[in-house]
Amino acid sequence: MIKILFVCLGNICRSPLAEAICNAKIKEYGLESSLLTDSAGTSTYHIGEDPDPRSIEVARAHHTPISHKGRQVSSSDKHEFQYIMAMDRSNFQNIVSMLGEQPEGLYLMRDFDPESRGAEVPDPYYGGQQGFEDVYQMLDRSCEELIDFIREKHNI
Ligand code: 4NP
Repeated sequence: MIKILFVCLGNICRSPLAEAICNAKIKEYGLESSLLTDSAGTSTYHIGEDPDPRSIEVARAHHTPISHKGRQVSSSDKHEFQYIMAMDRSNFQNIVSMLGEQPEGLYLMRDFDPESRGAEVPDPYYGGQQGFEDVYQMLDRSCEELIDFIREKHNI
């Protein structure tokens, strides 16, 4: 089983949405027995909480099931997940600090966005619903390419 962890700051806006979008694609491609996802935050702010209502709304608008309870990144994640996807550079640096090393499978999510490779998924928390739609589109493109990359690399 190949495991992918999506990471942002709060684990209520971006990363649970990334997880939901990736899960929908895993189901669409029939990869449930090969790929597993989770998400986590670098902060403790929203542990145990459901996704932000605006992430739930944008997921609903795109018919993407979403369900997650906020949790913080833990040091065991570096052993459990082959892929750790940071939403922005600040998340990336915080993950390196928290894990005490830069794991081989740590990437910036938008390294896989063909429209803007290496850009950040901006934090939509202090903005409006349109910001969540923009984030959805970035994550949708990036998840698509990430799954292609993993399938090719692992022959699945
Ligand atoms: P996320 O968004 O990192 O995409 O989940 C945020 C959620 C909460 C906060 C910041 C960003 N906050 O400061 O509480």
